[in-house]
Amino acid sequence: MTFITKESRREQVALPPLDKVPEHVAIIMDGNGRWARQRGLPRSAGHRQGTENLRHIIRASAEFGVRIMTIYAFSTENWSRPRREVMLLMRILEMVIDRELQELDAEGVQIRHIGELDGIEERLARKVVEACEYTRYNKRLILNVAFNYGGRDEIVHAVQNIVRDGIAAEEITEATINNYMYTSDLPDPDLIIRTSGEFRLSNFLIWQGAYSEIYTTETYWPDFGRSAFYDALIEYGNRRRRFGKTDDQIDAEYIQQSYFKERTV
Ligand code: FPP
Repeated sequence: MTFITKESRREQVALPPLDKVPEHVAIIMDGNGRWARQRGLPRSAGHRQGTENLRHIIRASAEFGVRIMTIYAFSTENWSRPRREVMLLMRILEMVIDRELQELDAEGVQIRHIGELDGIEERLARKVVEACEYTRYNKRLILNVAFNYGGRDEIVHAVQNIVRDGIAAEEITEATINNYMYTSDLPDPDLIIRTSGEFRLSNFLIWQGAYSEIYTTETYWPDFGRSAFYDALIEYGNRRRRFGKTDDQIDAEYIQQSYFKERTV
C-alpha cells in the first residue's frame, strides 16, 4: 500500500534546471519508523513507504543530472535491530532487485554494492552480485547501495588489504587508502543528505565525507520527495565550498577560471 502525501502531490510539477548540480549525492534515509508511528502503523509500513520514496528519488536524481547516488540501506549496526526487522530489510532489498532491476536497467542505472556480502544469506548475496553485473555498463546514474556497510569497517578492511598486499608504511598516502575503499574509482560525495532531523553521520562514508556538504531536514524519509530533494540541491548550490582555503583564495580561483573559460570560447 502507498500513501498519497502532500509531498507526493507536488511530485509532478516541472522544476527549473539547477545552476549547480552535485556530482555525487549520498543519502541517510532516516525516519521510516517515526513516519509509521505517527500514523499508528507498524515500522514495516514505514520501510515500505521509504522504499517507494526511494524509487522517486532515484528517478529524480537522474532527472536533475546527479551522476552518482549512494544510499545507506543497511548499516553494520542495523544487525542489532529486532530479528524480524532485519529480515524485513533483507526481503526489501531482494524485492527491489526482483521488481525494479529491469526498469532501472532500462533507465541507465548502474547498480553497485558497497559493504560486506559476508554475513548476508547466500541467495540474496548472489542476487546483489548479479544485479551489479547486469547493469555494469549503464552510464546515466551510478547507484551505490550501502548494505551491510559501516565506515569504520570499510577502513579496517582497507588497512587489512594494504598489509596483505605488503605495502610499506612509508609508501602509504591518502591516495593509497583511497584506492582500497569501496568507492576507489568515484569522487567523494559533494553532498550528504540526512532526513528526520538527526545531525550525525552514523558511520556512513566517514572517510569519503571529509569535505562533503551536509544537509539535514526534519522531514521523514518517506515524505522526502522529489521537490524536497530539489530544495536540498538548491541549498547545495548556494553553499561555498572552501576545502580549507580562505574566501579570498576561492574568489581568485573563480576569477581565474572565468578568465580561462572566456579565452577558450
Ligand atoms: C532508517 O529509518 C532506515 C533504515 C535503517 C532503512 C532504510 C531503508 C529503506 C528506505 C528502504 C530501502 C531499502 C533497501 C534495502 C533498498 P529508521 O527505521 O531508523 O527510522 P526511525 O529512526 O524513525 O526509527
